[in-house]
Amino acid sequence: MNRLELIDEMHLLEAEHGRVREIAEQLPKFCLRTDENTPCASCGSLLVAQCANTVTNSLVVLQSFSTMHFAHEEKIMRMACPGHDFDRRFATHIADHGALTSELARISSQESSTSPAGMIGKLAQLLEHWLRNHLAFHDEALTAYLERSCR
Ligand SMILES: [Fe+2]
Repeated sequence: MNRLELIDEMHLLEAEHGRVREIAEQLPKFCLRTDENTPCASCGSLLVAQCANTVTNSLVVLQSFSTMHFAHEEKIMRMACPGHDFDRRFATHIADHGALTSELARISSQESSTSPAGMIGKLAQLLEHWLRNHLAFHDEALTAYLERSCR
């Protein structure tokens, strides 16, 4: 990958990270009752159905987006860092992609047995981890590495 291609890919990745921030900001706004014991009990059936729909749509968006985004990021890592140094540098980052993917699948499997508000709370927690741990640690380190590679 030449320098200009790498800069283009970094811009694309930053736009994708912006999408994660957007989803993380929007999702908790759908329900303010996620801390209650039975958070959907005080809402009418129409509102609960709308929230259930929001959860289903959010799961579809998050699963397809994360699959695309993690594959994109890992492709760039491989292109920017060929050879024996790759595993040492990126193994824990890629493992965290796997952990986020597994956690999303685990939350998704609870959809039929969890209230919409409960699901929104779980997804909001996952996204918070994604932003606070993954993006702030692994993705920032990747960006710094790519920036050094571009010089
Ligand atoms: Fe990442």
